[in-house]
Amino acid sequence: MTALHDVQRPPTRVPRYEAPTSLDAALQLLSDSPGRARPIAGGTDLLVELDGGGHADVDVLVDLGRIPGLDEITLDDDGIHLGPLVSHNQVVASQVCRTWALPLAQACLEVGSAQLRNRATVVGNIVTASPANDTISALLALGAAVEISSSGTRRRLDLIDFITGFRTTELGPHELVTGVIVPPMGEDQRGIFVKLGLRRAQAISVVHLAATVTIAEGVVSDATLALGSVAPTVVLVPDLAERLQGRPLDAGAITDAVNLASQTASPIDDLRAPASFRAELVETMTRRAFTALATDEQATQWPTEPPLLWGTGFDGRFPTGSGLGISVDHDGSITTTVNGATVSAAHTTGVTLLDWLRDEVGLTGVKEGCAEGECGACTVDLDGAAVMSCLVPAARAAGATIVTVEGLADDDHLHPIQQAFVDTGAVQCGFCTPGLIMACAKLVEEIPDPDQDQVVHALAGNLCRCTGYRAIEAAVAQVVTGAGR
Ligand SMILES: Cc1cc2nc3c(=O)[nH]c(=O)nc-3n(C[C@H](O)[C@H](O)[C@H](O)COP(=O)(O)OP(=O)(O)OC[C@H]3O[C@@H](n4cnc5c(N)ncnc54)[C@H](O)[C@@H]3O)c2cc1C
Ligand code: FES
Ligand code: FES
Repeated sequence: MTALHDVQRPPTRVPRYEAPTSLDAALQLLSDSPGRARPIAGGTDLLVELDGGGHADVDVLVDLGRIPGLDEITLDDDGIHLGPLVSHNQVVASQVCRTWALPLAQACLEVGSAQLRNRATVVGNIVTASPANDTISALLALGAAVEISSSGTRRRLDLIDFITGFRTTELGPHELVTGVIVPPMGEDQRGIFVKLGLRRAQAISVVHLAATVTIAEGVVSDATLALGSVAPTVVLVPDLAERLQGRPLDAGAITDAVNLASQTASPIDDLRAPASFRAELVETMTRRAFTALATDEQATQWPTEPPLLWGTGFDGRFPTGSGLGISVDHDGSITTTVNGATVSAAHTTGVTLLDWLRDEVGLTGVKEGCAEGECGACTVDLDGAAVMSCLVPAARAAGATIVTVEGLADDDHLHPIQQAFVDTGAVQCGFCTPGLIMACAKLVEEIPDPDQDQVVHALAGNLCRCTGYRAIEAAVAQVVTGAGR
């Protein structure tokens, strides 16, 4: 189907898309065109940068998403291993990470929204190397290392040495990060991650930090503190362990930690906050974090069952394997399953899944609010998980199963959540409604009786500018209680 005239189409940005199904093939593609081939994992950073005109020299995206085995979290004598496709929501759901790397799980839960966390990866977060990136401080505080591979070589670097400056790393254009290794916390070690943003979800941090302490026989034997958004890179506070060693973690020790943190931070004024506010936050947040560690309350704010917006058959890992590899350029077609029907259409590279569904498949229920992952209006079900379709390369849909709002109703019967939106008047202009309905449908599929906190958490990635959220919450409540059915 051709819905748009050529002049109406968004410009093609990266003309070629490759989805290899082995690591060797991905590395070969990178070494064949150094600097011109760019790896993509979740795409949540890269697609926004491309949309803003960045990476003009890139002419092929190498999507790692179909390579088997890169999405695993394992624990062995060497540590916790995160593959390069491990998403933030996989870490949130991982008992291994929650138990042995709590600050990392807490950091992952703070990233964006549930839809974003289903695609965005920990490795992508590290490679972008922004000082505001949440998992970097958690991983630095935990003493993590990265594994870097190119065709025929493999090396390992401490994360502290991997990040070389503001958004720069040691990574060469022909290299991939193929894993993150996190030392598990010991029985006598405690850790915490805390973040303050301008709102509770979808907010880059004004300040964040991660801290660990090891307390044996009542005194500190080791301590780390990493600060984010207060310097050109995430920074580790120097001399902290030496200052606290052999002392109980009491008010005096905590004040010393606060003073060291304050000396380490060199915040700037920016859109999110003035430097003076950030400097005060460093002190307040460090004091609160170490007080929580002293009283063993680092996990008290962890929600019992954070919604992931995963369908019943989805375990956090998207399908991979040889049947799913593709190589396509702009005029090439892909075949996918949308709302139960097989769909083939062209114009798949350089555009997002959102554009492709609307312009080529004709499904205009999928809305574009912001085109950068902020509003949730473009939420669709991709292979069983809710995702922001504006942050998915269209060609990634080859071989996928997609459900849009048009596919929710069963013959003449609305999906219960659609009916509930009608019954509770949860719609005003209706622009946000398809995305909200998709998120709500995923929520009640995953957690049939969500509590109020879970509803708020699940819908944090969806903005509504007119109805307000009470009627929307009432719609979910109607489905949960069965009222009105
Ligand atoms: C709306 C929105 C909200 C956000 N909120 C937050 C937030 O609260 N906290 C936060 O920290 N971040 C946030 N982010 C940023 C982003 O989601 C994260 O940094 C995410 O973890 C990036 O992972 P990705 O898999 O999507 O990376 P991609 O976009 O796929 O890649 C990011 C970079 O890493 C490179 N890359 C990817 N994988 C590899 C690899 N294996 N080897 C080498 N290079 C690789 C890519 O080439 C690219 O340069 C937000 C982004 C958006 C759009
Ligand atoms: S989140 Fe995709 S259009 Fe706003
Ligand atoms: S009903 Fe208008 S934006 Fe939500």
